[in-house]
Amino acid sequence: MAGKSVFISGGTSGINLGIAKAFAAQGDKVLVFGRDPDKAEMAAREIMEQTGGIALAGSADVRDIDAISALFRDAAQKLGAPDVVIAGAAGNFMAPAVNISANGFKTVVDIDLLGTYNVFRAAFDLLAKPGASLIAITAPQAVQPLPEQVHVCAAKAGVNMVVKVLAMEWGQAGVRVNAISPGPIQGTEGVERMAPTAEDKAKWSAHTALRRFGTPDDIAKAAIFLASENASYITGTILDCDGGMKLGDASGDYVTPRQRPGA
Ligand code: NAP
Ligand code: COA
Repeated sequence: MAGKSVFISGGTSGINLGIAKAFAAQGDKVLVFGRDPDKAEMAAREIMEQTGGIALAGSADVRDIDAISALFRDAAQKLGAPDVVIAGAAGNFMAPAVNISANGFKTVVDIDLLGTYNVFRAAFDLLAKPGASLIAITAPQAVQPLPEQVHVCAAKAGVNMVVKVLAMEWGQAGVRVNAISPGPIQGTEGVERMAPTAEDKAKWSAHTALRRFGTPDDIAKAAIFLASENASYITGTILDCDGGMKLGDASGDYVTPRQRPGA
C-alpha cells in the first residue's frame, strides 16, 4: 500500500484530528485513537469522508502501555510499520493548586507525560527504521509558568525533556523525535477550558503577535513538515507554532492603521 503509516494518540478530536486529516489528505494511512471507541469510529469516518483517505479507529488509554502496544501491533499489521507517531493525547483543567488533589495532579501528569512516553516507547520496536519520525504535542506551559496550571506546566515540561532525551538515544536508530508547541487553537477543547469567555479570547488574541488564534490546519502544516524529508536533519526540537504568543504580550500599537491588513 502506498503512503506512510501514521499513528496518532488523541487523533479523535481537536488539533490532533486536524493533523490526522492533513496526513490522510496527502495519501497517508492514519490510526486515530483515544479512550472512547465510538468517538474514534466517528473521527475515522469523518477523515475518510472528507479526505478520501484510509483511517483506522482504535481505543486505548495512554496511561496503559499494554493496551497501546496491543493496538499498535494490530494497526501495524493493517496499515504497515509506523513511519510517523504523534503523541497528542492530553488532559487539562484550570484550577489553583489549593483545589488540585494529589490524584488530580497525578492524573494530568499520567495522561500528558507518562502517556507521551508510553506512546513513543510502545511504538519504538515497531517503527519503520531508519526514517521514522516521532512528534509530541506539547504546550507553551512547558516553559512558561502559568497560575492554575501547575499540573500541566509540570507535565508538559517533562514532555519536552522526553523528546530531547529520546532524540539523543534514538537518533542512532534513524529515528527523529520532535515536538510542536501550539498556541491557542480556535474551536478546540483546550481553548474552551483555558479561555472560556469571548472576553478571554479577545484578550489572548490581542496579546498575540499575529493577533489571531491558530487553526488545527496551522498545526497540521507543522506536523507534515516535521514528518517530511524537508526536516530530515531536525531532531530534539520544540517547534513553536503559536503566532508569537510565547514571545510575550505584543498588544501595543506599533504600526499605523494604514499599514494593517485590509487597510
Ligand atoms: P481535545 O480535542 O480535548 O483532544 C484530546 C484527545 O486526547 C481526544 O482525542 C481524547 O479522546 C484523547 N485523550 C484524552 N485523554 C486520553 C487518555 N487518557 N488516553 C487516550 N486518549 C486520551 O484537545 P485539543 O485541545 O485539541 O488538544 C490537543 C493537544 O494539543 C493536547 O496535547 C494539548 O495539550 C495540546 N495543546 C492544545 C492547545 C489548544 O489551544 N487547544 C494549545 C496548546 C497545546 P478521548 O476523550 O476519547 O480519550
Ligand atoms: N479541578 C480540580 N480537580 C479536578 C478537576 C478540576 N476542574 N477536574 C478533575 N479533577 C480531579 C478529580 O477531582 C480527580 O481527583 P480526586 O480523585 O482527588 O477527586 C482527578 O482530577 C481525576 O479526575 P477523573 O475525572 O477521574 O479523571 P479522568 O481520567 O476521567 O479524566 C481529566 C481526566 C480530568 C483530565 C478530564 O478532564 C479529561 O478527560 N480531559 C480530556 C480532554 C481535555 O482535557 N482536553 C483538553 C486538552 S488540552
